[in-house]
Amino acid sequence: MRNSRRAFLRSVLAGFAAIQALNASAGLAYAGGKDGLATRYIDDFMIGSMIDVKFLLDPEPDLQALVAKEFNALTTDNIFKWDNIHPAQNIWNWAHADVFVDYAAKHNMYAVGHPLVWHSQVPEGLFSKRRLNQKSSAQYMDVLLDHISQIVGRYAGSINAWDVVNEAFDDDGNWVRNNWYQIIGETYIEESFKAARPADPTAVLIYNDYNLWKPVKRRRVIDLIKDFKRRGVPIDAVGMQGHIGLGYPDLALFEESIAAFGEQGVKVHITELDVDVLPGLPEHEFPQYKESLDPYRVSLPEAVSIQLAERYRQVFEILVRQKTIVERVTLWGVSDRHSWRNDFPIPGRTNHPLLFDRALQRKSAYDYLYQLK
Ligand code: XIL
Repeated sequence: MRNSRRAFLRSVLAGFAAIQALNASAGLAYAGGKDGLATRYIDDFMIGSMIDVKFLLDPEPDLQALVAKEFNALTTDNIFKWDNIHPAQNIWNWAHADVFVDYAAKHNMYAVGHPLVWHSQVPEGLFSKRRLNQKSSAQYMDVLLDHISQIVGRYAGSINAWDVVNEAFDDDGNWVRNNWYQIIGETYIEESFKAARPADPTAVLIYNDYNLWKPVKRRRVIDLIKDFKRRGVPIDAVGMQGHIGLGYPDLALFEESIAAFGEQGVKVHITELDVDVLPGLPEHEFPQYKESLDPYRVSLPEAVSIQLAERYRQVFEILVRQKTIVERVTLWGVSDRHSWRNDFPIPGRTNHPLLFDRALQRKSAYDYLYQLK
């Protein structure tokens, strides 16, 4: 797959035509543009969406039709997280992942597995006091590598790319002192990549993180890539999450990071793009809910909707400019209705960060991106 992206895109395009014909004959209600967004950008990069597994288990026909038409890559936010897929020792919950993989295959979409190793959303038992006392760091390493091999091996050939490790560094470029780091040490990250490669030699292996536009964090990841390359540790791409806002970051820094990763000989996947439109909060502060922090409960004012569209256009102008490095751009959700940004960092607000509104209608942001090509 790594060497045949064009071929993959061509086959996706052919699949699209077939799916669109099917949708038309089934008379599905969604009425988008003549062809979808992914088709518009077919010569640049894949355009993906995150989909919550509940829409695959209990299908909403309009949403599914929209996803199949507009996107050619698919990620799901929670089903591969340790607490869902591997809730206890020797207990595997493959059901959701199987549904996801089948859906992606049926719709000829590039399937992304997110994430194999992360410190969040792990089952309580994994790092319980009892288990920590029982197991040596070498045994924990075995648990980690077995987890990776089993999952990647099961979906070999079906999942095209893996976020192998998620968020290992903080905003200052220091190691996040998570359980893996404290128990195993720095090597947990390289061993994870080394375990993923043989389990599916064709899968694209990604290091995924947020705020990679920050120069200090960018430099840390560049050092990681250089070290990996020097010692033959496999890594194919950096995943820049892309949880941005109307006013941050400075997009010049975002572009510099893409170019800098490209110079190291890895690709960039924008893995979780969304644009927060709500009032800015001081970094790393999580204030209580207040109505003044939630100004667009009824609707997004036209002026802000245009601001959002322009922001998306600026981002995509950069991505198109960097298309030899950027392989995929994935939106973190389909409709504003389901965005995690409604609840993060303050629960219960009404955010509008995506390309489709709460009624699944295209927003100006969508139209701007559609017209850019
Ligand atoms: C989010 C999911 O979208 C939510 O449903 C979940 O409650 C929390 O996690 N960075 C990541 C993603 O790598 O896994 C996170 O997804 C968003 C931030």
